[in-house]
Amino acid sequence: MLSPLSQLDRLVSDAIQATFGQAPGQVDAALRPSRFADAQANAALALAKSLGQSPRETGSQLLAGLTESNIQRIAEVELSGPGFLNFTFHTEWLAEQFSMLESDPRLGVPTQNAKVIPIDYSAPNVAKEMHVGHLRTTVVGDSLARILEVLGHHVIRQNHIGDWGTPFGMLIEHLIDVGTGSAEARLLESDPNTFYQSARSKFDSDSSFAQRSRFRVVRLQAHEPESLEIWQTLVERSKQYFNEIYARLNISLKDADLAGESTYNDDLAAVCEELEASGIARVSNGALCVFLNGYSGRDGEPSPLIIRKSDGGYGYATTDLATVRKRVDQLAADRLLYVVGATQELHLRMVWETARLAGWLPERVQAEHIQIGSVLGPDHKILRTRSGESVRLRALLDEATARVADGMKDRPELAVQEREEISEKVGIGAVKYADLSVAHDTDYVFDVKRMTATTGNTGPYLQYAATRIQSILRSTGDESGQRYTFAITNDSERALVLSLLGFGSVVAEAGTDAKPHLLCAHLFILAQEFSRFYETSPILSAEGAVRWSRVRLAEVTLAVITRGLDLLGIELPTRM
Ligand code: ARG
Repeated sequence: MLSPLSQLDRLVSDAIQATFGQAPGQVDAALRPSRFADAQANAALALAKSLGQSPRETGSQLLAGLTESNIQRIAEVELSGPGFLNFTFHTEWLAEQFSMLESDPRLGVPTQNAKVIPIDYSAPNVAKEMHVGHLRTTVVGDSLARILEVLGHHVIRQNHIGDWGTPFGMLIEHLIDVGTGSAEARLLESDPNTFYQSARSKFDSDSSFAQRSRFRVVRLQAHEPESLEIWQTLVERSKQYFNEIYARLNISLKDADLAGESTYNDDLAAVCEELEASGIARVSNGALCVFLNGYSGRDGEPSPLIIRKSDGGYGYATTDLATVRKRVDQLAADRLLYVVGATQELHLRMVWETARLAGWLPERVQAEHIQIGSVLGPDHKILRTRSGESVRLRALLDEATARVADGMKDRPELAVQEREEISEKVGIGAVKYADLSVAHDTDYVFDVKRMTATTGNTGPYLQYAATRIQSILRSTGDESGQRYTFAITNDSERALVLSLLGFGSVVAEAGTDAKPHLLCAHLFILAQEFSRFYETSPILSAEGAVRWSRVRLAEVTLAVITRGLDLLGIELPTRM
């Protein structure tokens, strides 16, 4: 079912077309929320220009056109100011729409034309700690995957982990030295950075180790079985570590979604050959490079996309070209999403431009970089530990959950297990929501106090709203047997109904524009509308149809908040 605003939009667009004879694509009803009505259409202002008449005149012609359409059924229309049209939905019509929403298992979320959408997200690196940068691409990517899936798309999760490259020589040698079954090896699951750093410092101080490591890379690249086997152990152990974090964060990525850099090993030579053969790439200073128009460095020299280094090795760009080729060809993608740090903008742009030239990325396939901004510290600089390292993701999650646990110290009624469940779900929910509620490409300050607050636009506020409705519904009892017609009796109920009816189009917009924060903003307003409703519209002391209708409102609000949080990947605690 369509939201009231979308239904209105259709009717107004149709009326514009009927009245002024505009072709469909040209018609824009330009509806927006207004202080004076449920919606305002500014279409006349733009139309008047092309018609060469005054906006007021255009507005009144459109009004006449609308009066003939069946808009009367849904809203009252009024011409105002310089040609605006103000629409006020009939309250009875809204009540009918609400009843339809209540019986719609999709809660108004539309089913879009199914597209195949591979989403590249998370992408941590083997034998390295996940850091805040990975938090964001993981959380935003997972929410987009859930949103696009519910809209009916075929989402293919692609976890492009960093599991290949020169450091693996040193990592393999180190793993051999410490023994695959040793406590040191188990660090890969619990504290990968320490493992990595031991390997690194040995590499820097011990020249024979460095020598062995370099030799090992060559053996690995030649797919020597022994080297591959130890490499596999490294990857397996890291997988354990990633999966533990994913489980804690309620991330839907599975082992089957892993498509790390190594997946593309066999394609890299062909990628280079094809590009060279078609003249898109050429050798410069021994390296195979693509020179694209309009890309030059500070010195004015053209900056190349290097796809084969002078030593014959392939790099990050070559692998990413292979991802495009595979996702378009084999996965039959219609839309490609790369949820990756904003700093990689140039890299992805050059890769896609090259892929377009090569014919691997046809025009009909959109490739979108969902740019991820930075997480900042209290000093508004990139979040780092005191010693200047990037902050471990796990440490941040612990900080948030500990803060929630701390806030429950004086709640003796809660059993230990319950406390743990609440602090985990609320703490993690807080971190995820803080991340999802800002536009994905903006930076934000990691402030545990703010994100775990139960007031303001936070995860805990929404979780609290939902658990509160649950407890309200426990005390109203089951009224589903009593049959009345749903009725709206006051403004706060009406506003709540409008918010609830807007859920589906917000989900659609969040998916189409790849902006989960739109969903957060909607849920926040919805929860606020519910509070206002609950303050002004008593449920327990009301009777008959009014009480029954208010219980319905509480139930649907709970369903929408729960579904919305689920699309954000945020779980509800049983109570708070
Ligand atoms: N592993 C990379 C990192 O940690 C991110 C990879 C992003 N995905 C891609 N297809 N390039 O920075």
